[in-house]
Amino acid sequence: MKTDSMLAQAGSRQDPRTGAIAMPIHPSAAFQHPALGQSTGFDYSRTSNPTRLVLERTIAALDGGSRGLAFASGLAAVDAALRLFSPGDALLITEDLYGGTFRLCENFGRSRGLDFHYVDTADLKAVSAALDRPGIKGLFVEMPTNPLLKVADLAALASLARKRRILYLVDNTFLTPALCRPLEFGADVTVYSATKYLGGHNDLIAGLLVAKNPELGERLAFIQNAAGAILGPFESWLLLRSLKTLHLRLKRHEENARAIAAFLAGHPKISRLHYPGLPSDPGHATLGKQARGYGGMLSFEVASRAVVEHILASVRVFLFAESLGATESLVTFPLVQTHADMPADVQQRIGLTERLVRLSVGLEDPEDLIGDLAGVLD
Ligand SMILES: Cc1ncc(COP(=O)(O)O)c(C=O)c1O
Repeated sequence: MKTDSMLAQAGSRQDPRTGAIAMPIHPSAAFQHPALGQSTGFDYSRTSNPTRLVLERTIAALDGGSRGLAFASGLAAVDAALRLFSPGDALLITEDLYGGTFRLCENFGRSRGLDFHYVDTADLKAVSAALDRPGIKGLFVEMPTNPLLKVADLAALASLARKRRILYLVDNTFLTPALCRPLEFGADVTVYSATKYLGGHNDLIAGLLVAKNPELGERLAFIQNAAGAILGPFESWLLLRSLKTLHLRLKRHEENARAIAAFLAGHPKISRLHYPGLPSDPGHATLGKQARGYGGMLSFEVASRAVVEHILASVRVFLFAESLGATESLVTFPLVQTHADMPADVQQRIGLTERLVRLSVGLEDPEDLIGDLAGVLD
C-alpha cells in the first residue's frame, strides 16, 4: 500500500478475533502464560504491549524500516538512541537543533562519556571536515532544523557516513513519513517527537524510533525494555488514531504555511524569512529532491525584541505557546523558550537572535491567520 493508504488504515486489520477496525486499547500490565515456557507473545507491557506493538509496526512500515519503537516522549526516544553509543564515542550533530536535544546531549550524554561536535549539517564540506575528527561514531541530523529550517542533503550525508562506517540518525519530526522517508536516503535510524505532527492535536506527548536493519532494531528494543521509557497503551492508541489523518493535515499545514510565507516575504517589517517552500530559500532545491512537501513550519526576523514582544502579546488567532505541529497555529520565541538552554555564544553563532519568531502554522482559515499577522505587524 502507498503511504496515504497505510495512514488511513493505521491500526486497522490488527484484531482478527473481533474484526475491530479501530485498534483496541490493551491496558494490561502483565499477560497470563498458557504454560511454563510458553507465551502469547506478550509477557509484561514494558517489554511489549499489543496496542503499542501495532503502533510500532505501523511507524516501521511507514518509514520503510525493520522495527519501530515507541517512547514516552521525543526526548526519551533521542535518549534511547544515544544509548547506542559507548563512553569515548563522539557524535557530530546539527548545530541549530531543538534546544532540548542539545540539553540532553550536553548534560546526560556528556555524563555518560560521550562527546558532541555541532556543525551546520546543511554544509557538506563542513560535515566532511568535521568527520575527520578522531572518535566520531555517529552523525545526528535534524532536517529541516528547528528553528532556522535549514535543509541537509540526506543522501549526500549518508554517503559520508557510510564511508566512515558510522551510525547515521535523522530527526524527521518536522516532515514525518508522510513527506519524507530518511531511511530511503541512507539513514540508519529515524527519530520523532510524535508530540508534533504525528500526534497533531496538542493532546499527547510521545516519541518514536525506527531502525533500518533488524540488528539495530534489536539493540534499540533491548534499550527500550531495559531503560523503560515506554509509551503507554492509551497514548499508543491515540497516536494510531491521529496517524489516520496525517497526510491530509500536512497538506493543509503546508498550504497555509505557503500563503503566510508569501505574505511575509513581501512585508516591509520582515527582515529575514526562513521557509524552504519558497523557491528563493537556500534549502528549496535539496528538500524538493528528498521530500513530498515543505511542511508547515517557518521562522522570520523582525527589527527588534520589542517587536517580538508586541507580536506575542497581540496575536489573536495564533496562540503564544511552546510546541508545533498541531491543528492550532502557534507562535514561539525560540531564544527564551525552546532554545533557552543553549549558551548565548552558541545561540549567537547559529543565528538564533532576539529578533527571531517561529510559527507553527495550523489548520485554520488562512485569511484569519494572515489577517492576524497583518494587524499585529501594522
Ligand atoms: C525536532 C524535535 N525533536 C525532538 C523534540 C523532543 O520531543 P518531545 O517534546 O516530544 O520530548 C522536539 C520538541 O520540540 C523537536 O522539536
